[in-house]
Amino acid sequence: MENLTPMLKQYNEIKKAYPEYILFFRLGDFYEMFYEDARTASKILEVVLTSRSAGSSGKVPMCGIPYHAADSYISKLIKAGYKVAICEQVEDPSKAKGIVKRDVVRLITSGTFIDEHSPDSRYIAAIYPDKKATGIAFVDYIEGGTIYTNSFEDTGRVSEILSGIPLYECIFPEDKKEMVEGIFNTPFLRGKKITMTPYDDWIFNKEIAEKNLCEHFRTGNLAGFGIDENEGAIKSCGGLLEYLRQVNRRPLTHITKVSLYTDTEHLYISPSAIYGLEIERLVSILDTTVTPMGKRKLKQWIYHPLLDVYKIKERQDAVKILIEKPSLRKDIIDILKGMGDTEKALSRISCGYSESVKDILLINNLLEKVLRLREILKGLKNPYFIIDDIPELREFLSITVEREIPSTNYEGYFVKRGYNKELDELRDIRENVKEWLRELQKKEIKRTGINSLKIGYNTVFGYYIEITKPNLSLVPDNYIRKQTLVNAERFITPQLKEFEEKILTAEERILAIERETIETVKGEILKYASQLHKISSSVAEIDTLCSLAETSEKNGYVMPEIDDGFEIIIKDGRHPVVEKSIEEKFIPNDTLLDNKENHFLIITGPNMAGKSTYIRQVALIVIIAQVGCPVPAKAAKIGLVDKIFTRIGAHDEISRGQSTFMVEMNETASIINNLSMRALVVLDEIGRGTSTYDGFSLAWAVAEYLTETGVRTLFATHFHELTGLSEKNKGVKNYNVAVKKSGKDVVFLHKIMPGGTDESYGIYVAKLAGLPEAIIKRADEILSKLELQGTLREQIIGEMKIDAPSLFGEIKENPYENIKKEIETLKKLKEEILDIDIEKTPPIEVSMKLKKIQEEIKENGKG
Ligand SMILES: Nc1ncnc2c1ncn2[C@@H]1O[C@H](COP(=O)(O)OP(=O)(O)OP(=O)(O)O)[C@@H](O)[C@H]1O
Ligand SMILES: [Mg+2]
Repeated sequence: MENLTPMLKQYNEIKKAYPEYILFFRLGDFYEMFYEDARTASKILEVVLTSRSAGSSGKVPMCGIPYHAADSYISKLIKAGYKVAICEQVEDPSKAKGIVKRDVVRLITSGTFIDEHSPDSRYIAAIYPDKKATGIAFVDYIEGGTIYTNSFEDTGRVSEILSGIPLYECIFPEDKKEMVEGIFNTPFLRGKKITMTPYDDWIFNKEIAEKNLCEHFRTGNLAGFGIDENEGAIKSCGGLLEYLRQVNRRPLTHITKVSLYTDTEHLYISPSAIYGLEIERLVSILDTTVTPMGKRKLKQWIYHPLLDVYKIKERQDAVKILIEKPSLRKDIIDILKGMGDTEKALSRISCGYSESVKDILLINNLLEKVLRLREILKGLKNPYFIIDDIPELREFLSITVEREIPSTNYEGYFVKRGYNKELDELRDIRENVKEWLRELQKKEIKRTGINSLKIGYNTVFGYYIEITKPNLSLVPDNYIRKQTLVNAERFITPQLKEFEEKILTAEERILAIERETIETVKGEILKYASQLHKISSSVAEIDTLCSLAETSEKNGYVMPEIDDGFEIIIKDGRHPVVEKSIEEKFIPNDTLLDNKENHFLIITGPNMAGKSTYIRQVALIVIIAQVGCPVPAKAAKIGLVDKIFTRIGAHDEISRGQSTFMVEMNETASIINNLSMRALVVLDEIGRGTSTYDGFSLAWAVAEYLTETGVRTLFATHFHELTGLSEKNKGVKNYNVAVKKSGKDVVFLHKIMPGGTDESYGIYVAKLAGLPEAIIKRADEILSKLELQGTLREQIIGEMKIDAPSLFGEIKENPYENIKKEIETLKKLKEEILDIDIEKTPPIEVSMKLKKIQEEIKENGKG
């Protein structure tokens, strides 16, 4: 260390404080990395690993990237799971004595990274697990605004909440690692790439957290946020805020409030339902938004539909207006188009990103566009169409900011004329230069008689006069040679030099004034951070409403009736995604669900009939309806649903490290444990992941449980024996998906019909899928044999239909035990029969043994 160059000494000093970060060390136009950082980064960034002299102690590894392209390199490192510290020169190099002072100005982590290439939200969370309750706090760092927080006794609830948001980073106190790992050890969190950041315990200290929160939000206490008595919320929220402050290294102006997260306002879609119903694909069907914040908002609305009839109607009303006034919609979209991400801009300004000029323009643009929006939305009563204005800021920006600056090299052109007198004068000098140079060129051509004489500029020599070789003899005495090229020579004159001085000083001063003004403008913008957030959010909502109106008009959706009853009546419903992805016509189907006679629908039908499609479509229609959007149907009435659960054949369990059956049972357990009266349950072939008897017994038991609860359920199954449940329970209705047999072929009608079915066409489907003829034939043979043996199964089931014990009545035995016992007995009898050696046993003994077996069977038959 002693022998290092001063620069590397400075580097090591700074790096010491950020061991877990890759340090971007600014040297001129580059960010350089050294030592291990250089080795790691050069591999990920695919840049050359070089070395730099470290003084008398030899060389050290180094790699570098140009500072103006830093964003894309940072993005690569973040995505590879690293953290980055940006170290800048913090004094003017020309004024520095000795080595330029440098310091870390910003830390970038997975949760605080502003990804320029994605409009999606990026959440960062803090958790504080305790014996009594676990506190959580989370915020979308891109959007800024609100930190949501609360604490929960049930850590399962915490996992659920966290799996419902696009989470990128989670911080937690160092000494609670094990508890935190427990919370993250659930299928839906395990599969996500979340950076886990253990952090200093003190930031979660209650007193410090409380003080930090009050200071940041300028409040005397936390009662206004509803968390003053909520220890877990205070600790996690305070910890999160402090962490963000440390990472950001400047006031977090874009974090403007705290909100108690209760989520009683939204329809809960379970994590497995999000996967099973493919909500992401639903989003892509409904999305025609034109702004990045609209895109985020639409997603948020679909993942969190509403629960309040009044609020849903308010949205429906807004969508209706936009459907009825296509020209208004078009005008709105025209204004919104090309608006840019104003939420991100605000976050960037608040976080001190260098590209502020563009961001200021985005905000300026937002305020101007909002003015036009307000004009065309005037008179509409719906609250969604009321957008705030910030006249003071808008006017301030209109006098300070030049609207049309060059797209590149805008330095020196940003501040509007008239705002700063000195600046205007300096600019006049700059402008006059061109004129003056043209004049000078003309004059010199005349003086020397050289027609090709040219005045030019380069950064090394400044202004020069260029004379081509053939004319060199005509050059006057007062020309001073500066540079020789292949075909020409370049000269300066004292006059030109003097002029250059003047213009360069002017240029420098222009930039200094601009920089100052930019800081003032940024400060002014941040003063209005929370209002600007609100405006951006209103714009996002209007964009989203237009998108909903647009898609529903395009796809022939209809506005559903919403009430707080229990009936779900759908006339000619369609699956919004499947109808778009198949070539043939989608066959619409009706639905009737309530909490009485029709609360449990069993859908049977052969493979490929459309069972899964149908039950998903009902859940999706409910979601779309509660978003406030028209639904894919001819007519619909939706009695509010507060939770949607699904158990649908999953595809990605293996990657989540669990057996198919385990996941199935986990999910089923979580449905049963979290049911509510208003829930909607969608079960697709439960019990398929295990042996037929186990699976069937479980399916039966789960179905039976649900029929007793009265919760609205759609149950698709291949166990057609389950249709027997309707005999026991009035609320159970059987449906089947119609197929038409013609000869050996089958036609799928995709039409839901009342009644059960017991026909399966699995082998036919296998044939369609292209399995070789030999296999199909053999399967047919095996099937016929099995069907003969099937009588035993029918018998068992027949018995259960009559006797199957209710889980809620007197529970003698469960049906699963029954089947097991029966099989056991049959096995024993089989052995006994096989044990008889007919050749050697006298006939009388054989008949005695048979009699005994008969008696045993009869005995067993009594149960
Ligand atoms: N109502 C419909 N109209 C038109 N095509 C449909 C309809 N429903 C389903 N289909 C088509 O049939 C295919 C199979 O549907 P689905 O997966 O719902 O069948 P399934 O009965 O659940 O089959 P399996 O028993 O194998 O799970 C779908 O991918 C779709 O192409
Ligand atoms: Mg299916």
